[in-house]
Amino acid sequence: MKTEFYSEINSEVLDHCGKIIRDGGLVCFPTETVYGLGADAFNPEAVNSVYEAKGRPHDNPLIVHISELSEAESVTAMTEVERERFGKMAEAFWPGPLTMIVTKKDTVPEEVSCGLKTVGVRLPSHTVARDFIKAAGTPIAAPSANSSGRPSPTLASHVMEDLEGKVDAIIDGGSCQVGLESTVIDLTGEVPCILRPGGITLEMAKKVLPDCTQLEWKEEEISAEEKIAPKSPGLKYKHYAPKAKTVILQGEPPKVAERIHWALENAEKRGVKAAAMVSSELKECFTVENVVALGSRNDGEAQAAALFKVLRDFDAQGIEEVYAEAMPEDGVGFAVMNRMYRAAGCKMLPVRYVEFVCTGNTCRSFMAEYILRSMLEKRMADGDIEAVAIKVSSSGVFADAGCAGSQMAEEVLHIEYDIDGRGHRARAFTYDIGEKADVILCMTEGHKLAILRCFPEFESKVFTLGEYGNGQDVQDPFAGSYMTYSRCADQIRSLIENGIF
Ligand code: TXA
Ligand code: MG
Repeated sequence: MKTEFYSEINSEVLDHCGKIIRDGGLVCFPTETVYGLGADAFNPEAVNSVYEAKGRPHDNPLIVHISELSEAESVTAMTEVERERFGKMAEAFWPGPLTMIVTKKDTVPEEVSCGLKTVGVRLPSHTVARDFIKAAGTPIAAPSANSSGRPSPTLASHVMEDLEGKVDAIIDGGSCQVGLESTVIDLTGEVPCILRPGGITLEMAKKVLPDCTQLEWKEEEISAEEKIAPKSPGLKYKHYAPKAKTVILQGEPPKVAERIHWALENAEKRGVKAAAMVSSELKECFTVENVVALGSRNDGEAQAAALFKVLRDFDAQGIEEVYAEAMPEDGVGFAVMNRMYRAAGCKMLPVRYVEFVCTGNTCRSFMAEYILRSMLEKRMADGDIEAVAIKVSSSGVFADAGCAGSQMAEEVLHIEYDIDGRGHRARAFTYDIGEKADVILCMTEGHKLAILRCFPEFESKVFTLGEYGNGQDVQDPFAGSYMTYSRCADQIRSLIENGIF
């Protein structure tokens, strides 16, 4: 099929595209959130072809778009309660980035609702969208105009990438102002519930419907029952997925910046194309080109507008790994993190600074640092890029700063672990080192007590490696034979494997 492309929008173009819809065709059109892929909501065959064009599973219902409030009557059969909630929300937020789920009219085809008794309705604020729906003379069923599984399109060129040849026409309305899909709110339940966060936040909705709640979307917070039968079918699909492996790093900004630096360097060594997306504040820490700013850390709106375009640009550049800074989850930032979270395969990694401590930092903590770092590098090389979240260093409670590692420790590292530890220099444990660490792992109870005597404020993060890895204290191999060192290193390795991974 040849796809017509309209970058000049006038009433003739809109009438023509409206006729395509009436004739059962497919038209992609701009809205204030993302581009939509529209079909006549009352034409089952046309609606079916929407699923085909997107490659969308047939159990994920479509939103019906209308051009004015009164049109909602043609697709809904609301209960009293729904009607009251619907009226209040429409008055506050329509036209705009809000989809309301209410009981549907029987005349809305199964193809739109996928067997549910409800329908999602939205009155967009984008004038082109509304004029187009008006020109079609029928409500328009439309999902986002991307291939299923790709980030939603915020530019007409994104729509072209995914759907050229699969739809009859594309209307180019420039870039979408909000940049994330609409907030989806279910008005049919005991209390109103936001199923998909978006530009209309929970706080905003609560001002109108005080008992409104929000579905949790972080994996650990979703109950087993939810996973089996999600309230909104779309929630069970891994949406917004870029082609690259994506990792979100959460923590104090300087630590996140340090980890991203490390990740990009490490990727370069491995010959992998990597990039990062961060706040404009964090971007200041970087001079390299492949770090992209999404917007100011506290400007969720700016981040929302940029996110999908950045993900698509990364895809186009053949980026294989993406490292992202977690943004604050206030206001629209909540929706931004929801999409980022899904792009990252539903995981967010807290950055962890691990500090190994022994007496002189020349044997045990030295070997621990190098063994763990080498495990992390191996994981990265094997494609397990979550290892990026851990940074490791070491020090000693009575260290002679600047001393090299002991010769025996160096030899064991070299012979048995293929690690070059010659660059090691001992550090004395200080308040600053302890403050920066997220977890302090001591070789013995004695080291732990020594630290806590000086710095009781570290109580919650000081452990022995034995406690952490479910084993014994690591005894000093000092002045022992090669075998003594080798056994010590082996004990350290096994405690690290038990405790840290
Ligand atoms: O901003 C938007 O909402 C864009 C533009 C084009 O309007 N549309 C959009 O549609 O994002 P789509 O199909 O990509 O996402 C619709 C979401 C899906 O997660 C779907 O499962 C959910 O809304 N949904 C639709 N009808 C529903 C219903 N009756 N009950 C529960 N969830 C529903
Ligand atoms: Mg979508």
